[in-house]
Amino acid sequence: MTSHPLGSVIQGSLSQGLEVRLYPDVSVEEMRVGKFLVVQGTRSRFFCLLTDVSLGTANPRILANPPSVEDTLMREVLAGSGTYGTIELAPMLMFTPVEGKGYPTESQGNGNGLGSFEVQSGAEVELLPVKTIPAHFSQVLEASERDFRTVFGWEDDPQRRNFAIGQPLDMDVPVCLDLDRFVERSNGVFGKSGTGKSFLTRLLISGIIRKQAAVNLMFDMHSEYGWEAMREGKTVSTVKGLRQLFPGEVEIFTLDAESTNRRGVRGAQELFLSFEQIEIEDIRLVGFELGLSEAALDNANILFSEFGRPWINRLLEMSNEDIKIFCEEKQGHAGSIMSLQRKLKRLESLKYLRSVCQHNYIEQVLQALESGKNVVIEFGSQSNLLSYMLATNMITRRIHSTYVKKAERFLQTKNPSDRPRQLVITIEEAHRFLDSSIVHQTIFGTIAREMRKYFVTLLIVDQRPSGIDNEVMSQIGTRITCLLNDEKDIEAIFTGVSGGQNLRSVLAKLDSKQQALVLGHAVPMPVVVKTRPYDQQFYQEIGVNDWSSLADEELLAAAALAKADLGF
Ligand SMILES: Nc1ncnc2c1ncn2[C@@H]1O[C@H](COP(=O)(O)OP(=O)(O)OP(=O)(O)O)[C@@H](O)[C@H]1O
Ligand SMILES: [Mg+2]
Repeated sequence: MTSHPLGSVIQGSLSQGLEVRLYPDVSVEEMRVGKFLVVQGTRSRFFCLLTDVSLGTANPRILANPPSVEDTLMREVLAGSGTYGTIELAPMLMFTPVEGKGYPTESQGNGNGLGSFEVQSGAEVELLPVKTIPAHFSQVLEASERDFRTVFGWEDDPQRRNFAIGQPLDMDVPVCLDLDRFVERSNGVFGKSGTGKSFLTRLLISGIIRKQAAVNLMFDMHSEYGWEAMREGKTVSTVKGLRQLFPGEVEIFTLDAESTNRRGVRGAQELFLSFEQIEIEDIRLVGFELGLSEAALDNANILFSEFGRPWINRLLEMSNEDIKIFCEEKQGHAGSIMSLQRKLKRLESLKYLRSVCQHNYIEQVLQALESGKNVVIEFGSQSNLLSYMLATNMITRRIHSTYVKKAERFLQTKNPSDRPRQLVITIEEAHRFLDSSIVHQTIFGTIAREMRKYFVTLLIVDQRPSGIDNEVMSQIGTRITCLLNDEKDIEAIFTGVSGGQNLRSVLAKLDSKQQALVLGHAVPMPVVVKTRPYDQQFYQEIGVNDWSSLADEELLAAAALAKADLGF
């Protein structure tokens, strides 16, 4: 396919980007911010993102005396010479062909001197970050399908685990994430409410499961990932959850069995936690929700060192008299301990918390993950922040410590069979866990900062990225961002991204649904996508039929068959 030349580079710099003057026959109205364009320099081909559009005039007299509405002739005469459109491009990647590698030479050119782009596979091409810019008057071209494939790959590339996350705004080609690169760092899905974060998350996790890039542990605050979820629209409709798409590969655990049963979820297992599993760190994380002071936390420490694991049970049993005696014998401040006791009583109302539990349910979650199953933990009615943060922290802390041990063993033996399976933990309302004031004390801060060292990474889903600690934000590998309006939130997205300034306008101009700017480790360059629709067609493409009418045993049998079919 020959690309149509749109304009030529008139000025620019590596740091500020390129200014391109459009040809008269090209309408500025077709140039949308976020578009992917190509500049053909003399030696290299530059892949660029359109960051701004403007109108120019050659002579101020035209502005002083603009042609009238009827005067189409005058407007046509002026177009291109007197008046013109310009666009700003941010060059992101360049490709300099090596002799004999199938890149255009004059003789192979396609007749317009621009050369054709004869590269078949992303693997053969070395795309480099831009170190220079194209010369004056280099041609700017509409990106061809092949350009897209060269940069963003394709889904069934046998050499990579690619997953198509969507399409560019004006073309029917896939934009893929490299899932192996995706899961090896912590990632974020951002956007204001209702922009499609949950749908994107469901897509991403489906891709990870389908391509077996990692196992997933999802803390499903609104119970929308495991089983059916509502879809906004004129009529009430639902979309499938992950267990329905991958019946043999996803386990649902629930912290509120009643709610889960009411929704008709099949095969969910109950999960209980006990007071004995609560550590000071967990309490500290929900300190704000519980209204605890620093003094109360200090006293919690004293109680813990005195009583050990059953400290909360012991505290809840104490009378005021007991507390006074305790404070006389040990250290501690009676007033603070009484207030701590009152506040911890709120935990008794959480459905999944028991004083003691004979069975260790977290162990069960861990076993499921170890056997390669993906786990979705539903909160049902227990989805307030106190409940969500407490359970999420308790479970993650335990699972992380197991992973650390496994990773250390693997480091020592270097035996491939000891290699832990990569684990991706999905959390919502992430800024509550990763706020600067607590991030250094919570397990999530630790995971985000230590990166892939222990084979555990986070997928954080959040509508207030500005609430996330800067250091954590700069460790986020891939950022998939839907529309954000708040200046501070937009700023946060570009923390630690060089050249981020150019991209701000792109982010602020996204549609309010199903569009996202993808940037970071899993894509070669930033790109704006129309998110892949999560619908019947997707279910089919991901390789699953309609299972909803089957019983559980049948589900498993069908899943096994389907797996064989798909050649897993
Ligand atoms: N990829 C998609 N495929 C189909 N529909 C989508 C997609 N993305 C978004 N939508 C539509 O947009 C609506 C809102 O999306 P979603 O529930 O994911 O928003 P959200 O960002 O998670 O919002 P909140 O912050 O309120 O949780 C969905 O109900 C659906 O109708
Ligand atoms: Mg959501």
